[in-house]
Amino acid sequence: MADHPESNRARVYLDHAATSWPKFEPGVAAAERYVRCCGATAGRGAYHSALEAERWVQAARKALASLIGAPSLDSIALCTSGTHALNAGLWGVLKPGDHVLTTAMEHNSLLRPLHHWKELLGITVDIVPTDERGIANPLAARDFITPKTRLVALGHASNVTGAVQDLEAWSQVAQDAAALFMVDASQTLGYLPIDVRSMNIDVLAAAGHKGLRALHGTGFLYVGHDLQAGFRPLLFGGTGRASESLSGGQYWPNAVEVGNLNLPGIVSMAVAAEHFVESPAAVHQWQAVHQLLLQGLQEFPQVHLLGRSVAAASLGTPAASYIPVVSLSVDGWDVHDLASVLDDAFGIEVRAGWHCAALVHKGLVHAEQHAASNSGTLRLSTGASTTVEEVTVALRAFRGILKGE
Ligand SMILES: Cc1ncc(COP(=O)(O)O)c(C=O)c1O
Repeated sequence: MADHPESNRARVYLDHAATSWPKFEPGVAAAERYVRCCGATAGRGAYHSALEAERWVQAARKALASLIGAPSLDSIALCTSGTHALNAGLWGVLKPGDHVLTTAMEHNSLLRPLHHWKELLGITVDIVPTDERGIANPLAARDFITPKTRLVALGHASNVTGAVQDLEAWSQVAQDAAALFMVDASQTLGYLPIDVRSMNIDVLAAAGHKGLRALHGTGFLYVGHDLQAGFRPLLFGGTGRASESLSGGQYWPNAVEVGNLNLPGIVSMAVAAEHFVESPAAVHQWQAVHQLLLQGLQEFPQVHLLGRSVAAASLGTPAASYIPVVSLSVDGWDVHDLASVLDDAFGIEVRAGWHCAALVHKGLVHAEQHAASNSGTLRLSTGASTTVEEVTVALRAFRGILKGE
């Protein structure tokens, strides 16, 4: 295929929660230069271009470590996705007999490994329910703590409603239980600050291709120093170290980084993460555009923004903040049909369904309507690159469909 067949189609991309597009241009340019001019593998040879590749790996570790406040760059292992990082992190720290506490907000990339490894690993798992906004109450979590609770693992924000979890309070839950604290920052990295030291985070997994706007095939895992020595590898293979031994030894971060790394992706992630470290103000530019979208959607009486109009006071918890993700239902429409019309007739690209996070939908207002239609929600997610013009086009499309204007 010489070119993307749809490359000339006018489109408004509103699925940044799945992956960002367009990517951070300086990162794309650096990745292209790496592919054209270097192309060597990292951590294997000692020739010039191999050393250049290794410098990119170190640059990515350094920028990501500063972005999350990690005490040293060697606590970062480079992964191929948020899913890879979560699987590697869970497998790496869990031991037979452990009890894990997580929430109904989680993405399948956290819930499914726990589900599948229950028997294999001999672990038990409890899932704290979420409210009408997609928030799990840390006070409720305390009822699930047992003397065996060894890991409290949850996402920083919901990929369905956009609601941000109170990480400080959850960190306290983990500390009170003398458990490890693991955070999935796949949806928030690039949007919200996070600091592993002040939040006492032991393990952090994140995607690189969403809010950071690195290429596909990127993610990383932070693991605190005290957990690195006993970390159990999920994959085995070539690491460029201890090649003479069959066991390969136990080296962090090679416990995660096996096989050839995704250098083009890593180069783009290094450049994108450096940008965020140098200009954190850019992190907040997405807010105004997302707000504009929400205000526009509220014009339509048939549109229900899920979890956004719930008074926090009625739930007895603090007001929620949100990343630029919103889920909605529309009276008289199946969300899949609406997504198709938006795409086919207007070039508006949004996602309909359960968004790989089925449990959170149970708590949402209008949940009965979703359950009856068995369709999930329509999700619109803007990003750092979304413009006012794009939001205006999207709202015009809604007006055309819902008001016939
Ligand atoms: C909260 C959350 N965690 C993890 C992931 C998985 O990330 P990836 O798509 O990079 O595997 C996603 C993806 O949407 C997500 O929303």
